[in-house]
Amino acid sequence: MCGIVGYVGGKQASKILLEGLSKLEYRGYDSAGIAVRNDDGNINIVRTKGKLKNLIEKTNNGEDLEGSCGIGHTRWATHGEPSEKNAHPHYSEKDSVVVVHNGIIENYAEIKEKLIEKGYKFYSQTDTEVVANLIDYYYKEIENDPLDAIKKFMLRVRGSYAIAVMYKDCPNEIYAVRKDSPMIIGIADGETFIASDVPAMLKYTRDVYYIDNMELAKITAGKAEFFNSDEEVIEKELVHITMDETAAEKNGFEHFMMKEIHEQPEAIKKTINSIVEDGKINLEKVGIDAEKIKNYNQIFIVGCGSAYHVGVTLKYVFESIAKIPVQVDFASEFRYRSPLLTEKTLVILISQSGETADTLAALKEAKKHNVDTLSIVNVVGSSIARASEYVLYTLAGPEIAVATTKAYSAQLVAGYLLAVQFAKERDVIDDKEYKNLIEEINAIPEKVDEVVNTQEDIKHLASMFSNVDDVFMIGRGIDYAISLEGSLKMKEVSYVHTEAYAAGELKHGTISLIEDGTLVIGLLTQKSLIEKTLSNMQETKSRGARLLAVATNGIGAAKSCDYVINIPKINPYFSASVAVIPLQIMSYYMSVLRGLDVDKPRNLAKSVTVE
Ligand code: AGP
Repeated sequence: MCGIVGYVGGKQASKILLEGLSKLEYRGYDSAGIAVRNDDGNINIVRTKGKLKNLIEKTNNGEDLEGSCGIGHTRWATHGEPSEKNAHPHYSEKDSVVVVHNGIIENYAEIKEKLIEKGYKFYSQTDTEVVANLIDYYYKEIENDPLDAIKKFMLRVRGSYAIAVMYKDCPNEIYAVRKDSPMIIGIADGETFIASDVPAMLKYTRDVYYIDNMELAKITAGKAEFFNSDEEVIEKELVHITMDETAAEKNGFEHFMMKEIHEQPEAIKKTINSIVEDGKINLEKVGIDAEKIKNYNQIFIVGCGSAYHVGVTLKYVFESIAKIPVQVDFASEFRYRSPLLTEKTLVILISQSGETADTLAALKEAKKHNVDTLSIVNVVGSSIARASEYVLYTLAGPEIAVATTKAYSAQLVAGYLLAVQFAKERDVIDDKEYKNLIEEINAIPEKVDEVVNTQEDIKHLASMFSNVDDVFMIGRGIDYAISLEGSLKMKEVSYVHTEAYAAGELKHGTISLIEDGTLVIGLLTQKSLIEKTLSNMQETKSRGARLLAVATNGIGAAKSCDYVINIPKINPYFSASVAVIPLQIMSYYMSVLRGLDVDKPRNLAKSVTVE
């Protein structure tokens, strides 16, 4: 995933573009660049490898680039290694067409060959340079109609794209088009902004247009005109964004990840309070009604990464509380395995960004089968939210750290509440159990807060293990689901090779990897299962492993483990919300102690909008 920005107005474009890119750097940060048209009509392009700070230095913080119309880009490489040559903006010969692009052009290779046959030359390995030359080709072929050239481009390519285009012949105009990659257009007095995400423009405007798939836009100072793929004018509604701008600031924390770890109690509470009213779960805003809930006979939960791990947890919760069969799929697998969907199936899609390409594609696969879709999403107006039949928004606020924490936690409680409401509507639980479960969920923020604010022991453990080579996280049932998320956190931010394993499965092969000093972290929150997990942990200890338990207070783990992190008592259905916190914190400190970029780990991006 990459970040794109654009600006037309009365101010110095370069400074606004660089500021916007700094708010989007979480989307990709292996190279960056900006292009600004100056008053004599030339488009000056500056690109650098590495993080945005290199571009800021190279352009003297934008001072060196005159002009009030420009575009910019921060990259997460898909085609061609991170380098200045492959950095955006990309351009056709003599800069007649300059573009920035977020997405993937799947048939770029065959188009590149055709353009080379027509005399085009290429300097990079990217699909985006093909975009620039293809638009240039159509622009010249059809007597310089900027919109028509882009329309022909749209018909010719396959893939996903959010593109901003500057034509050398068209001063003070930027053209934009999107398909399956996010883009918004902000309007202020006498100036217009383009960005992949809201934080890039909040400083200047909260009034935005959401450009929809296969729509084109012509951007000029203070104005945006929209067209469909037949170039017919479209009227669009201006939306006022209410998001809190400080969410994109660290507020005294060293890293966004730790700030967002601390924001979890609030994120959980806000999400609960948006759904629970007067002690009852109200799904009216979601839109799904009791008859629908009673009618389903199976649920698929689909997501990627941590969102998938929420699904694994919710499988146990839904099946235990609501007695409805649940299958969980990686989004990238769901769409290719011909899932057996019927009119009584509900597909739940989980996504923090609401832009993950695999999850969006899975959603489209589900809709092809005419089944109901419900998305649990953290970004209002995101592509997955807008394409789903029902939407349950988490209220975690903008999450900047690439490694998700508060959004994951908010997704969990949103799922718990759904499961409890399903159980109630399907008469699986009575009023007393309903009330009790909601009270247990309401108690989660306080228990999370207790763990978030007792970090010393965890920090000490992180220092003890910051140089381990291999870590295994094991558990049974919901404890296994927790180990999946804990393992991903540790891998993501500390680069320590960590494997999550169903505790009972370890002895069927993988235990051969246990050596002297290997760290085995056991999740012990499911009382009925911990004796077996403890035995599995002992099996590794007898082969040299060191044992760390993350255990519910009083569950009786200390006697047989080398180290124990105790967590507050909680209904075992909901223990993932509390047990994951020490693993987030330990991963964070291991990353810091290893001198790594906690918020922007290597090779990653906050939301992967390519397949
Ligand atoms: C989690 O820490 C990772 N950043 C990643 O696994 C993420 O959960 C995944 O890419 C899904 O993103 P989404 O929730 O925005 O769809």
